[in-house]
Amino acid sequence: MALVPMRLLLDHAAENDFGIPAFNINNLEQIIAIMQAADTVNSPVIIQASRGARSYAGEAFLRHLILGAVESYPHIPIAMHLDHGNEPATCYTAMRNGFTSVMMDGSLESDAKSPASYEYNCTVTREVVEVAHSMGVSVEGELGCLGSLETSQGDKDNDHGGEGVLSHGMLLTDPDQAEEFVDKTGVDALAVAIGTSHGAYKFTKKPEGETLRMDLIIELHKRLPNTHIVMHGSSSVPAELVNLVNDNGGEIVNAFGVPVEEIQLGIKHGVRKVNVDTDNRLAVTGAIRAALNDDKGNFDPRHYLKPAIAEMRRVCEARYEAFGCAGQGGKVKQVSTTVFAATY
Ligand code: G3H
Ligand code: 13P
Ligand code: ZN
Repeated sequence: MALVPMRLLLDHAAENDFGIPAFNINNLEQIIAIMQAADTVNSPVIIQASRGARSYAGEAFLRHLILGAVESYPHIPIAMHLDHGNEPATCYTAMRNGFTSVMMDGSLESDAKSPASYEYNCTVTREVVEVAHSMGVSVEGELGCLGSLETSQGDKDNDHGGEGVLSHGMLLTDPDQAEEFVDKTGVDALAVAIGTSHGAYKFTKKPEGETLRMDLIIELHKRLPNTHIVMHGSSSVPAELVNLVNDNGGEIVNAFGVPVEEIQLGIKHGVRKVNVDTDNRLAVTGAIRAALNDDKGNFDPRHYLKPAIAEMRRVCEARYEAFGCAGQGGKVKQVSTTVFAATY
């Protein structure tokens, strides 16, 4: 089956009431961990790469990493998704490089910083949908800006976050607008703003109803029962991974993520794609720090990269199990992959 449009996986997830983690990749070790975990628990896979990842690894290496995953695990359906495309051109280059799904993040302007107008968002998202759908590629849009409802700061952890202080109106997806947006653009999946942000410092304490608006997901799903909802910034920042980093010389203080049980509530109410990057970043960094500390004379990179893969694999397996997609890999129905075979 190999490379499939993301829509196929999300439709299957909706029909069977589960969610799929979308893990970010930049390198070989991350993709190995994701695929080994999926193979162990028999899960479908969504791999995503940001603009940063594309420039870090380079298009050719990224493309061949994915080809490697497809060739090594031909029985696992894999969607390859562009994370946070900042403008239509970025989405088109991803499609030319074989991505089977793209995110047109029109919640921000093409500088990936300034909050965009609703009209701009509709226009660029609609344009990408028209091109992508003609090629069998899926599209995720975003309505509302990621950021903290505690501090009103837009997301500032990476190179695609709303800059400065934003109003709650901007930090929360408006349900009326969401209905119109989906209707106007024809997106396959909708990323929503409910108080999550990227990185390890999402909240200053365990989030509750005011700071993590799961009620909004419930409302959005009622209004848009046929739209696949996406939760960004959904790493859980487990204390044991933070401790692994800190016990080995790191300094991550006051980091709180999205509790897994909140994500499970979301999955009961239409969340089908759950973006997770930070948890694997913590896992890889913690494991490498620990391995280097354990044997200071060892300079074989495999000495620290093997435990790094193992630690990320544990994270991936846990999320596959918790989100209900374990056991579903072999059940996704076959579709033609002609478009993607041709691309490669
Ligand atoms: O969107 C957030 C992901 O963690 C990707 O981050 O842009 O630093 O690669 P990045
Ligand atoms: P985290 O930083 O919570 O892992 O979120 C990742 C994400 O949303 C990628 O788009
Ligand atoms: Zn994101």
